[in-house]
Amino acid sequence: MSDRIKVAFSNPALPAGGALVIFVGDDLSIPESVRALVGKGVVETVARAAAAEGFKGKANAGLTLLAPAGLQADRLVVISVGSAKDRGATNYVDLGGAIAGRLGSSKAAMVIFEGPAGWRTDAAAAADLALGAQLRAYRFDAYKTKKGDDQPPESVMLTIGVADPAAARRAAKTSTAIAEGVSLARTLVNEPPNVLYPEAFARRAEALTKLGVEIEILDEKKLEKIGMRALLGVGQGSVRDSRVVIMRWNGAKSSKSKPVAFIGKGVTFDTGGISIKPAAGMEDMKGDMAGAACVVGLMHALAARKAKVNVIGAIGLVENMPDGNAQRPGDIVTSLSGQTIEIINTDAEGRLVLADVLWYVQDKYKPTFMIDLATLTGAVLVALGQENAGLFSNDDTLAERLAAASKATGEGVWRLPLSPGYDKMIDSKFADVKNTGGRHAGSITAAQFLKRFVNDTPWAHLDIAGTGMGSPSSEISRGWASGWGVRLLDRLVADHYEG
Ligand code: BES
Ligand code: MN
Ligand code: ZN
Repeated sequence: MSDRIKVAFSNPALPAGGALVIFVGDDLSIPESVRALVGKGVVETVARAAAAEGFKGKANAGLTLLAPAGLQADRLVVISVGSAKDRGATNYVDLGGAIAGRLGSSKAAMVIFEGPAGWRTDAAAAADLALGAQLRAYRFDAYKTKKGDDQPPESVMLTIGVADPAAARRAAKTSTAIAEGVSLARTLVNEPPNVLYPEAFARRAEALTKLGVEIEILDEKKLEKIGMRALLGVGQGSVRDSRVVIMRWNGAKSSKSKPVAFIGKGVTFDTGGISIKPAAGMEDMKGDMAGAACVVGLMHALAARKAKVNVIGAIGLVENMPDGNAQRPGDIVTSLSGQTIEIINTDAEGRLVLADVLWYVQDKYKPTFMIDLATLTGAVLVALGQENAGLFSNDDTLAERLAAASKATGEGVWRLPLSPGYDKMIDSKFADVKNTGGRHAGSITAAQFLKRFVNDTPWAHLDIAGTGMGSPSSEISRGWASGWGVRLLDRLVADHYEG
């Protein structure tokens, strides 16, 4: 998992074995200090190899030389950081991923963290590099009993050679907490739905107690008593009991200061219920808890780095199944808020779960803000693809802060509108509101539905159906479960809500 790569820091030095990693610009020039370190012969070999390979020095591209003469290292990995004019925008996280992807069978690596003009060598850049390498090293292979021939080593020791190792080490404490949080979120999304049903998911969240997170698990009896009938209606067709988990991290000076709150959709499997989904691709609906997974991963990251803020994480865990006891289209349920909901389509279940959890958190914890994450609509994939999550908010400041954190981390968000016209589309003939608004503007009507369960609390909804699961591979991920949102929200908290 995330700890497949261990990161350490030292002053730059030639390693006695394993991989040696150096950086070049798109002109393939090696920085003067690195030339001095590796020697003239190696510099010439790199130039010849680059020419033979047609290596053009595109950002994050690499060149590997095995058993390089004149070095004790088993392999020399040359990574390009791209053209000088883009130097200010160098993504050190991606670069770290590119390195980890090129280590082959090496069990140890030394990165000489020196680059072309304009290159950053500060502690934050080194920590970003470490983060990228840790994220790229993530694997989910617990269910593979046959290991292939190209199996990477069980563990890799990655040493980053920097001028100030102590400062980098401090910065990497934070980035390692984030890497762990992202990895945890990915694993929860990757786990099969027979293993990760609501109760099992709740137990995984419970493991955060070892970091000092307080956990409260609400079982069906308790949920019934509280009045979360919208949530319970979704789970009533499943033999697996529903759960709500409340996680609490008290990192602020006073445990009484208002918390920020994150809420996640945790449908551990979404068949659609009686409005059953087509068979093709239904297996992907094991990832319909990516919102809840992000909240758990985020709580891990915040607690592990001892964030100076009070945080509530709340997740609604249900399984949506067809059954003799399942909810029907036409049913009317009374939500915790008191509003009645007509069920038009049992496949629009996520909003029913969130309606009750949002109301509960708002009412009980009076948070500074609430942000929910949910793999809520296929329509958001149609609108934004896998590049951006849909962002909806009743508060411009919160939306702008999220957009800034998105720019900083590369986890894309794109704001979509809310307005009374869309709200009318979910008025029901028989109840206060209905759970679908027809074919048009599906992501927006879903968000309008959620808005009916939020009062004056600043709130944002992130529709992550396109970004949280089924993701393409990248420099920092081998695909499917991305752990999307952990880095974004950690950044939001760090930039505006601590201390
Ligand atoms: N979990 C799905 C949305 C989804 C689709 C997530 C694709 C990830 C990938 C959600 O519960 C759902 O089924 N939504 C319906 C809503 C419709 C019935 C109004 C949808 O998007 O079709
Ligand atoms: Mn559904
Ligand atoms: Zn769903």
